[in-house]
Amino acid sequence: MSDVAGIHGTADAGSTVDATPRGGEAAARWRVAVWLGVCAAMVFAMAVIGAITRLTESGLSMVEWRPLIGTIPPLTEAEWHRVFDLYRQTPEYIHKNAGMTLAQFKEIFFWEWFHRIWGRAIGLVFAVPLLAYWLGGTLRRADPTGRLRWKLLGMLVLGALQGLMGWYMVQSGLIDRPAVSQYRLAAHLGLAFLIYALLIWLILDLVGPRGTAGLATAPRGLRGHAVGTAAIVVVTIFWGAMVAGLDAGIGYNSWPLMDGLVLPPEALMTEPPFVTGAEPVPVWLLPFENPGLVQFVHRWIAIVAAAAVLALAWRAWRHAAPGGERWLLSGLGAAVIGQVLLGIATLVLFVPIPLAAAHQAGAFVLVGGLVAVLHRLRAADRPSSP
Ligand code: HEM
Repeated sequence: MSDVAGIHGTADAGSTVDATPRGGEAAARWRVAVWLGVCAAMVFAMAVIGAITRLTESGLSMVEWRPLIGTIPPLTEAEWHRVFDLYRQTPEYIHKNAGMTLAQFKEIFFWEWFHRIWGRAIGLVFAVPLLAYWLGGTLRRADPTGRLRWKLLGMLVLGALQGLMGWYMVQSGLIDRPAVSQYRLAAHLGLAFLIYALLIWLILDLVGPRGTAGLATAPRGLRGHAVGTAAIVVVTIFWGAMVAGLDAGIGYNSWPLMDGLVLPPEALMTEPPFVTGAEPVPVWLLPFENPGLVQFVHRWIAIVAAAAVLALAWRAWRHAAPGGERWLLSGLGAAVIGQVLLGIATLVLFVPIPLAAAHQAGAFVLVGGLVAVLHRLRAADRPSSP
């Protein structure tokens, strides 16, 4: 994404570049940044709520999708019985939860309802100030080029897409298999990471550290390293979502070996029950369909990702300004070590909900740190940017 505020100070056509924002502009940028910060915090919380929803196996309890009136949970016993009856026709109830009581149903219903209501709350907290800041001229003051407004509109579209993606994912679990498609789960989680990363990028564009000292002076090669590292982290996250989607964390609960082997033979089998679904799969689909291999890929790509992040923090340290930038790099290193340890603990303890939810949150912390480092390194090419 290109710079929002890199153009600040050039509002008057033809004027010389002035890196210091004027009073009104600075205040407007802070106002917008604080609002986007609240949205980013809500997305972060949503990731934790989403993880709990999945881990408590609540995600398929709401069979209907009613974007507007669906915010109100059942208020009468009759309505509870109606939604419970709908649930009793789903494959999840038939194959996994037959005999569940209404009281038990209400518990799983809560998490899915909370997840959806929180999603709508994020939509409101984003859309209402967007409209107010747009009409009131705050966005124009924050970015006189007007580009910020279109970027924010793009974010609104991404948010709406995420709601649709969530429903598309849930639908895959209502047909014949009592589990959602791992691909759709990965797409839903991936979109959440994208929205979160873009929010942080926009905030840093608006009020991030300025000037051309520290990391902004780092050689271009370091930025290549950072981009490559981000790519490996994205791949790790993708396979983490595949592990989660296939419940692949409840097998091979040892580390570093899997059942005493580096790669157990079942992880290379193409036939059910070693792969999901009722049909054999082609070999090239194994890393996506065989839970053993999916877990193998995630656990080892994660180590490569962690090594890449630590090497990045190490190399960047020499160029970083003392204070903020060094804190950022130390935090990044600590975040990736913590994330690996959490992943291992989640695995060897058979995926306890608090640890698994913390592992998901840890991935968001890591992505936030990486985005901040990338943003700072990018400044090297743009001496007039913030
Ligand atoms: C850079 C390091 C890592 C990153 C960024 C990462 C990221 C992720 C993500 C995003 C998920 C999906 C979470 C969810 O949907 O709930 C996940 C799941 C998982 N990861 Fe990792 N992970 C890392 C390291 C590891 C390691 C080293 C292990 C263990 C050897 C591990 C084991 C697991 C397990 C068992 C799950 C499934 C948990 C569940 O079912 O909720 N992870 N990981």
